[in-house]
Amino acid sequence: MKGIVLAGGYGTRLKPASLAVIKQLMPVYNKPMIFYPLSTLMLTGIRDILIISTPNDTPKFKQLFGDGKRLGVRFFYKVQKTPKGIAEALIIGKEFIKNDSVVLILGDNIFYGANLEELLISAKESVEQRGGAYLFCYRVKDPTRYGIARFDNNMRLIEIIEKPKDPPSNWAVTGIYFYDSTCVEIASSLRPSKRGELEITDINNWYIKKKSVSYSLLGSGYAWLDMGTFQSMLDAQNFIETIETRQGLKIGSVEEIAYRKGYIKKEGLRYFIELYKGSEYADYLQEILNEKD
Ligand code: DAU
Repeated sequence: MKGIVLAGGYGTRLKPASLAVIKQLMPVYNKPMIFYPLSTLMLTGIRDILIISTPNDTPKFKQLFGDGKRLGVRFFYKVQKTPKGIAEALIIGKEFIKNDSVVLILGDNIFYGANLEELLISAKESVEQRGGAYLFCYRVKDPTRYGIARFDNNMRLIEIIEKPKDPPSNWAVTGIYFYDSTCVEIASSLRPSKRGELEITDINNWYIKKKSVSYSLLGSGYAWLDMGTFQSMLDAQNFIETIETRQGLKIGSVEEIAYRKGYIKKEGLRYFIELYKGSEYADYLQEILNEKD
């Protein structure tokens, strides 16, 4: 399975901060925002990752991550000329996806919780073995802001409604989507919605109609945060800071995940300790390096 991080958009609600720096490169507590969704893909065991961003910002992501060798993964880059909708990522990624399955994650989404790794891996395996789509839903207080799931009495997912005025439930579809290779054709056949976007919700509803969607509800033991406003960024920063300070562990450390997954060895981790020298992030990686095998 391949992975795509969509890290473009206008950052409208984050002006003036977003005029010179794209949202997904802004710090969320102690690391760039994109570290969080990237680490989620790496936890899932994805090693071929396409980063899609704006013409202006794609070179900055390249500068940050290069070809990915240092993290034991492969990064590829593509430009989205204008933000025409989340589903366009699958069209832009066509050559990259080829006939493989794919997991698409939004560059401003944070997932956190016990057993998350197992859940993600089982979603990946489900799509690899049986095809179709796999989604994750999360209970939210303000369902009018999201793609919202409608269930029947047996909790079968029957429809997703994008930003409903009259929400059928409080279960939002989160910004991580596992698909078989058909998703590219479906995306290519989409027409823009009333708001002028190629909607990821239309892709999900296509799979629902074919009765080939599985989903998991992320319950109260999980956190799902998306960051489109200064308030939601601050909430995310406070959340990360509280947990990291209390536990002495980092959330979204791509270097740690690469090391623990065996993608890089001690030498590889030492490279980042040197690169980040003088920061508490380097001290943290040093602690990991000092752990007994
Ligand atoms: O976060 C989950 C929600 O994401 C889902 O529940 C909704 O169904 C889905 O439509 C989406 O809703 P948003 O209103 O949050 O989408 P937004 O337009 O804010 O885009 C999400 C991120 O993707 C944002 O960081 C910008 C980036 N993006 C968006 C579009 C439309 C792009 O890079 N390119 C695009 O063309």
